[in-house]
Amino acid sequence: MWLLLQVIVLTEVKGFVVADGSRVAPLCPKGYFPCGNLTKCLPRAFHCDGVDDCGNGADEDGCGDTSGWPTIFGTVHGNVRRVTLTQECFLSQYPQHCSCRENELECIQADLKAVPKVSSNVTVLSLKKNKIHSLPVKVFSKYTELKKIYLQHNCITHISRRAFFGLYNLQILYLSHNCITALRPGIFKDLHQLTWLILDDNPITRVSPRSFTGLNSLFFLSMVSNQLEVLPERLCAQMPLLNWMDLANNEIKYLTNSTFLTCDSLTVLFLPRNQIEFVPEKTFSSLKNLGELDLSSNMITELPAHIFSNLHLLQKLNLSSNPLLYVHKNQFGSLKQLQSLDLERIEIPNINTGMFQPLKNLSHIYLKSFRYCSYVPHVRICMPSTDGLSSSEDLLANRILRVSVWVIAFITSVGNVLVIAVRSLIKAENTTHAMSIKILCCADCLMGVYLFFVGVFDIKYRGQYQKYALLWMESIPCRLLGFLATLSTEVSVLLLTFLTLEKFLVIVFPFSNLRLGKRQTAVALASIWGLGLLIAAVPFTSEEYFGNFYGKNGVCFPLHYDQAEDFGSRGYSLGIFLGVNLLAFLIIVSSYAAMFCSIQKTALQTSEVRSHIGKEVAVANRFFFIVFSDAICWIPVFVVKILSLLQVEVPGTITSWIVVFFLPVNSALNPILYTLTTSFFKDQLKELLHKHRRKSVFKVKKKSLSTSIVWTDDSSLKLGVLNRIALGDSIMKPGSP
Ligand SMILES: *[C@@H]1O[C@H](CO)[C@@H](O)[C@H](O)[C@H]1NC(C)=O
Ligand SMILES: *[C@@H]1O[C@H](CO)[C@@H](O)[C@H](O)[C@H]1NC(C)=O
Ligand SMILES: *[C@@H]1O[C@H](CO)[C@@H](O)[C@H](O)[C@H]1NC(C)=O
Ligand SMILES: *[C@@H]1O[C@H](CO)[C@@H](O)[C@H](O)[C@H]1NC(C)=O
Ligand SMILES: *[C@@H]1O[C@H](CO)[C@@H](O)[C@H](O)[C@H]1NC(C)=O
Repeated sequence: MWLLLQVIVLTEVKGFVVADGSRVAPLCPKGYFPCGNLTKCLPRAFHCDGVDDCGNGADEDGCGDTSGWPTIFGTVHGNVRRVTLTQECFLSQYPQHCSCRENELECIQADLKAVPKVSSNVTVLSLKKNKIHSLPVKVFSKYTELKKIYLQHNCITHISRRAFFGLYNLQILYLSHNCITALRPGIFKDLHQLTWLILDDNPITRVSPRSFTGLNSLFFLSMVSNQLEVLPERLCAQMPLLNWMDLANNEIKYLTNSTFLTCDSLTVLFLPRNQIEFVPEKTFSSLKNLGELDLSSNMITELPAHIFSNLHLLQKLNLSSNPLLYVHKNQFGSLKQLQSLDLERIEIPNINTGMFQPLKNLSHIYLKSFRYCSYVPHVRICMPSTDGLSSSEDLLANRILRVSVWVIAFITSVGNVLVIAVRSLIKAENTTHAMSIKILCCADCLMGVYLFFVGVFDIKYRGQYQKYALLWMESIPCRLLGFLATLSTEVSVLLLTFLTLEKFLVIVFPFSNLRLGKRQTAVALASIWGLGLLIAAVPFTSEEYFGNFYGKNGVCFPLHYDQAEDFGSRGYSLGIFLGVNLLAFLIIVSSYAAMFCSIQKTALQTSEVRSHIGKEVAVANRFFFIVFSDAICWIPVFVVKILSLLQVEVPGTITSWIVVFFLPVNSALNPILYTLTTSFFKDQLKELLHKHRRKSVFKVKKKSLSTSIVWTDDSSLKLGVLNRIALGDSIMKPGSP
């Protein structure tokens, strides 16, 4: 315990000052960050927590993820001037329900069925929310001054190939929320000045390769929420200045090497919510100016290793919500400018620190699990900032858990220590058996110690767990606690199996000489402890293979159910819980089944045999409760493990409930069962009963409740026989422990 506390003291924060007279930005250890130009280092979690931890506000600077288009857009459209128009109208001809200011005309919801006739020098024409269903030949050709046309919400189905002819000055064209199904070749042929083309929310399924001919000034193209399935090859060939392309929420299935071949100027490319499955290696190779790429919510299962290798200026990359199966070791190696990387909901089984090391400028990263954040210690903000088990404030998020951990720690350790003491004081007749029980209590007591320390660390981090979570999980105390818990459970399980098998041999083969002597028992017990120690210590041997086996959650218990965890530790955890423990559990259950059958038979035989094995049966009776508590304890763990094998998502909170409530059931109940069901205690009870017969009837009933609960199923007949045998034995031999 002292070792644990010392280690905690040693893992304090230390900053470094380079000692050559001048002040240099401090070199901080991994996972820590310098406070601006101060020599202070803070853990990553102190960043952006709303508190000025540095003193100069450096830790609260630049918290929002503004990388990508917000900054790119800022540099391109830095100084947009808004011109205030006078009330005067310069147009001599326009429909009734329209409003006119200078050369700008607005006809919103004016029930227009066609493009109205207006003065030829109109510059802005807004026809939103009318009933225009088609744009005939040269409908705008008279209005050569037009700079902006707004045609949203009209259900335009038909656009003549020559509808926009003659609009040499048009800069902005909005056609969103219409019923356009296809873009014909050459439709925008004359729009040499067009910079914005908005085609959102149309049922467009087809775009001809030459649809965009003539758009040689186009800067911004948005085709969000159409039904586009195929993009033409060399999409940008006709619009060499295209800077921004938004194709979100279409039905695009694949991209090819040449889709974006000539998009040299493209800085922002949005392709989220499509059905892209395959992206060939050269798809983005000519996008040398790309600053933001969004491929989120697609069906991409595999990305070629060098797909991003030419994107030297990329600032923001969003790959979230793709069923990506594998991330190459050097997938992000060339993204030196990347500031934000979104890999939410992506499992990275081969995750390692080297994968993100080249991303020197990365400040925001979004990963699938909190645990992954430990692989990107140099990134300032890593999401999620906590796992499901603990809240961002507390190690044990739930109030009930927080109190229970202490109660159960107390019951477990005090109960076991008491049993060890009592057993040592009373001279048991079966000394080897008493020795086994004491050893079992030692193992169970460790569970109490473990819970006690979980409670201590919960208090230590109360209210600010988020800041220390990763440090805590990486720390040596956490690993030692995990080791302790594993040691306790494994030794306990192995001992119970051993004791059960011992009883099994005695009861099922009462006349054989299979009983172990004192020395043999001692050797068996020692080897069980050795085996337990080995099982718990193996994960320390290879950091590479097991990673941080114990530090995967706040309570440091290696109940790995996360699909994404490394193969080594997941396999080992599976081996322990569904291998060793399930096997032990099955051995115990089947041994008891065999014992009950045997007892039922012998109960019908002579009283001589009965007296011979009666003593052993009393012990077997006690052991039944241990099996019962064993079942309560282990079945939830088996269920969680099997669910994780079936790839069912298990919420993180499950771990803490299992660790605090189910695992210690065994350790907490064993001492109670041992003291309450021994014949010594029964005798004491009987004496009490005799003295205060009237008063204590209810109390005794309560105390024997643990017995009656179990006896209420239809196996009660058989068990009743067993019980009578056990009682008969203690009556025959009063005073025996
Ligand atoms: C840190 O920088 C701020 C301005 O950014 C300056 O006012 C301050 O004096 C600097 N502190 C040190 C210790 O250099
Ligand atoms: C064109 O606009 C000018 C003002 O800019 C106006 O004086 C003139 O009458 C307009 N011409 C026509 C044909 O409407
Ligand atoms: C795309 O480029 C890669 C590498 O140059 C090549 O192997 C592949 O065949 C190309 N695919 C297509 C569809 O052109
Ligand atoms: C990435 O895309 C998803 C879904 O399209 C979105 O919710 C998320 O906010 C994006 N990430 C970033 C960092 O913008
Ligand atoms: C990181 O980004 C900053 C701008 O935010 C830039 O000045 C710097 O050169 C970048 N660093 C690297 C290594 O590219």
